[in-house]
Amino acid sequence: MSEPVLEISGLRKYFDVDRSRGGGKVYAVDGVDLSIGPGEMVGLVGESGSGKSTVGKCVVRLLEPTAGSIKIHGRDVTHLRQRSLRHLRRQVHMVFQDPHSSLNPRMQVGAVVAEPLRMHRIARGKDLTRRVDEMLERVGLGPEMRSRYPHELSGGQRQRVGLARSLVLEPSLLIADEPVSALDVSVQASIINLLLDLQRDMGFSCLFIAHDLAAVEFLCNRVAVMYLGRIVEESSREELFKHPRHPYSQSLLSAIPLPDPPVQRERKRVVLTGDIPSPVNPPSGCHFHTRCPVAELPLCRDRDPELIAHHGQGHRTACHLVHADGTAPDITKGAGPLVHHET
Ligand SMILES: Nc1ncnc2c1ncn2[C@@H]1O[C@H](COP(=O)(O)OP(=O)(O)OP(=O)(O)O)[C@@H](O)[C@H]1O
Ligand SMILES: [Mg+2]
Repeated sequence: MSEPVLEISGLRKYFDVDRSRGGGKVYAVDGVDLSIGPGEMVGLVGESGSGKSTVGKCVVRLLEPTAGSIKIHGRDVTHLRQRSLRHLRRQVHMVFQDPHSSLNPRMQVGAVVAEPLRMHRIARGKDLTRRVDEMLERVGLGPEMRSRYPHELSGGQRQRVGLARSLVLEPSLLIADEPVSALDVSVQASIINLLLDLQRDMGFSCLFIAHDLAAVEFLCNRVAVMYLGRIVEESSREELFKHPRHPYSQSLLSAIPLPDPPVQRERKRVVLTGDIPSPVNPPSGCHFHTRCPVAELPLCRDRDPELIAHHGQGHRTACHLVHADGTAPDITKGAGPLVHHET
């Protein structure tokens, strides 16, 4: 296999909690391994607070990791100092959920898109204008948009500008953190389609952070499921959507209707009760055991499951109840559309 574009090993990010609020640490990311190959689109999914954005921000070094390593094209960038970060900024870009707050309100669209080219002294004068216009065209905006200010754009147009700015340096990796969740449903699909077209055209790799599993299924080749700072399952899109092994992944996916009515009738929608536990004081052993309908005690409470490969297809699961041949408990089997599991 060719060298990964991104290789994350044992990544940890802990935030300190103020003494006035009881002290301690927020274990936001607590041992994440993930790699992304050239041209791969990898989805990162999980409930709110599971640590997805923190992973993304560590990769672009908006946050300094507590431990572990991050390599971009084989080069360790985990603790790069300010000057060396310049090079990283050319290769890796991040787009955010809210295009309104991520664009400078006092800058015209043309200047917003031109800024990275200027900062890295890649183009100026007519060449700069030409490259900005080309990039705007790629994201479906005409050159007349150059002189508009962000508040004069629709949400969808603003996210197009955000994408243009992120991609104008032709990075090899894009971190897209919920790029459509702040948008009107009617424009979400057009931005998702645009992202896929741009990826095919420009060939960058992408970590696509999302709540929307349908978008992940449409866009991504591979999916990683996160729960309380850890990846609990990772596999190809086909495998994950057809045969999720981890009980947490099964509950997430049970919310999506299946196209096959007889199969759908056989399946329960699993609704997990209670919020995700606090990352200040995560449960012992398997972090999911307090909400897992099939947890076996004391095993799941006392022992930390490792993310291990099974089934020989690059499918990895961190669950004591998943066997080496890939057999796993199915928590969605049986009649009835809905089941609540009290913890
Ligand atoms: N700067 C910070 N200081 C302290 N705690 C933080 C900080 N940033 C994030 N956290 C905490 O870390 C945990 C993970 O947050 P993160 O934003 O990575 O989750 P997420 O999976 O992206 O959630 P969402 O789906 O809501 O965006 C949360 O409990 C959050 O409150
Ligand atoms: Mg987030």
